[in-house]
Amino acid sequence: MPDTASAASATTRRALDLSAARHHFPSLALEQDGQPVVYFDNPAGTQVPQACIDAFGAYYTGSNSNTGGAFVTSRRTDALIAEARAAMADFLNAPDAREIVFGPNMTTITFALARSLGRTMNPGDEIVVTTLEHDANVAPWLTLADDLGLVVRVAEIAVPDCTLDMEQLRSLITERTKLVAVAYASNVAGTINDVATICAWAREVGALSLVDAVHYGPHGPMDVQAIGCDFLACSSYKFFGPHLGILYGRLELLESLYAYKVRPAHDEAPAKWETGTLSHECLAGLVATLDYLATVGRDHGAAYAEQFPGMSGRRLELHTGLAAIQEYERGLSRRLLAGLAALPGVHIWGISAEGDLTQRVPTISITVDGHRPEELAAQLGERGIFTWEGNYYALYLIQRLGLMDAGGTLRIGLVHYNTPDEIDRFLGALREIIGA
Ligand SMILES: Cc1ncc(COP(=O)(O)O)c(C=O)c1O
Repeated sequence: MPDTASAASATTRRALDLSAARHHFPSLALEQDGQPVVYFDNPAGTQVPQACIDAFGAYYTGSNSNTGGAFVTSRRTDALIAEARAAMADFLNAPDAREIVFGPNMTTITFALARSLGRTMNPGDEIVVTTLEHDANVAPWLTLADDLGLVVRVAEIAVPDCTLDMEQLRSLITERTKLVAVAYASNVAGTINDVATICAWAREVGALSLVDAVHYGPHGPMDVQAIGCDFLACSSYKFFGPHLGILYGRLELLESLYAYKVRPAHDEAPAKWETGTLSHECLAGLVATLDYLATVGRDHGAAYAEQFPGMSGRRLELHTGLAAIQEYERGLSRRLLAGLAALPGVHIWGISAEGDLTQRVPTISITVDGHRPEELAAQLGERGIFTWEGNYYALYLIQRLGLMDAGGTLRIGLVHYNTPDEIDRFLGALREIIGA
């Protein structure tokens, strides 16, 4: 997998021009009490570029139709779906656009996939998940286990870094394992998991692998071929697009697995997985968002091109764009972590060592002695700084950290349109709230 760590030290590279990137996002101009609001609620959903908003309108005025009709708006809709599949294949470096399945969100897609995979499993078969999962990558397997008499095993973590215990995880993957379902990045602690190694372990025992890339999506380039996963699920509302879920599945599997669908529907992949009518306007928005991310690659990504041999055109631009974003975001993590470390009574749940920033995305969870997370989030919200609090559906993790009764954590979730100035404003507000 490409690592842009070395890129961070390169002095000749033009840093991501943030003012230009921010300019694409009209909602960043929103004000509260005469000040621009600060969006640190990104892990729950990101803001979208103007091009994405415009694409919705353009779809409704020029293409609005169902698929397969003998007239122009329907033909445009068919072409749009094909274009969205091709663009997502570029985004994920999928070899074939037929490996891209669209659905309403990751959770719904994963429940549907679980039902299909269940037809290949027998009582006593095992599924491995980790303590770092969002419940959307746990509940589908627990409910399937309940239906079929399967066993779900949960990989442990180290605390407070919230990194996987790889040795223990490896020991859980055995001949009995049929699926390993693992998050690319934790939506609470920001940990990036070594998904390529974990998928290789699954392959060694003949198990399938599913990567939940919902949280990782906005933070770095993704390459399903380098990861070696069988499935990868993500959601475009987390990477500057509309509310839409996307599944990558290896073509051979999408073709051979049984899909639950209505009877006259196509038997071919990916159509057999897309039950009902898709949100065509969202697909139009998705294409526009991916165009925006490709623009970031065109404007700022040239220096990263050598990390993606064999890629060209939009595929390369998307990957170099996300590589530039990744490098910029590491600077944000560094600043926020240093600022938090200087505050008394603040505990960081996740990787905080300067040397390990390549192993995390800039999603930072904290607790503060004497202050409940919901109180902090409310007071920050009053100041126009949007954070989140609670368990974020990461039940195993919040339980493991012993924070369930304490109200979970306060989560500060940064993306590339956030700035060092916003971090400083947040730190100032937090200092004031906790009286530091
Ligand atoms: C890591 C992770 N996985 C899965 C989900 C569920 O995604 P969706 O809302 O698309 O169902 C989320 C949502 O926050 C998430 O953060």
